[in-house]
Amino acid sequence: MRRKLVAGNWKMYTTPEKAAALAKGIAEYVGQATDPQVIVFPPFTSLSSALIAVKGTAVAVGAQNMHWEDEGAFTGEVSGKMLLTLGCSYVILGHSERRQLFFETDMLVNQKLKKALSQNLSPIVCVGETLDQRDAGETMNVVQSQLLGSLDGVPADELRRTVIAYEPVWAIGTGRTASPHQAEQVHGYIRTVLRERYGAIVDDVLILYGGSVKPDNARELFGQPNIDGGLVGGASLTAESFNKIIAAARQ
Ligand code: PGA
Repeated sequence: MRRKLVAGNWKMYTTPEKAAALAKGIAEYVGQATDPQVIVFPPFTSLSSALIAVKGTAVAVGAQNMHWEDEGAFTGEVSGKMLLTLGCSYVILGHSERRQLFFETDMLVNQKLKKALSQNLSPIVCVGETLDQRDAGETMNVVQSQLLGSLDGVPADELRRTVIAYEPVWAIGTGRTASPHQAEQVHGYIRTVLRERYGAIVDDVLILYGGSVKPDNARELFGQPNIDGGLVGGASLTAESFNKIIAAARQ
């Protein structure tokens, strides 16, 4: 059985001090428990303080983005190697805010993904349609092409370490959640697309839902057969609401 995963995407929020307090509030609640697996994603400048705050607990820390080279003349960028050295174990790739606001393409996400995997960083690869695309009936096509484009050339044994997050763009930060049925339809489809390429191994791959996950809708979402947890934005910014979402994922 797949173990559930609950990830908190803190986006461009928290000072190092606030991040330490938030991470501590989560780490005290989680302790050594590994079901669900819990990961927090602070901004780069708060990674160190969050890493110190969760030390000795089962909470892992990851980054929200990385560059595809180890080092070089890339002003303003941070490499996977740097993140790994700091103590990060995960990285979010291809979040819709990066795709939309920073023009990241599937090809770029693919380059970053291959680098992350080669460095033993576990990636969370995000896919999801806009409202216009959903209204035009293109959801499954969009999700399929983002998925296959981002995973191009990634072998089966590395897919096992890759987490997929389905995040409909219209549900992110809007308070408008996909219904459990809408989300499950796409999650089931993602697993089918992956099964065609990778075979039975996809039964081990975690597919998270993201987009206005809150304490009051988490349990029903996480109860769907192909929803293996959540990538949580707004509701991950207080320990009180995030810990309730963690509780909703306990099996
Ligand atoms: P949200 O963000 O929970 O605030 O909708 C989710 C995400 O962007 O990962």
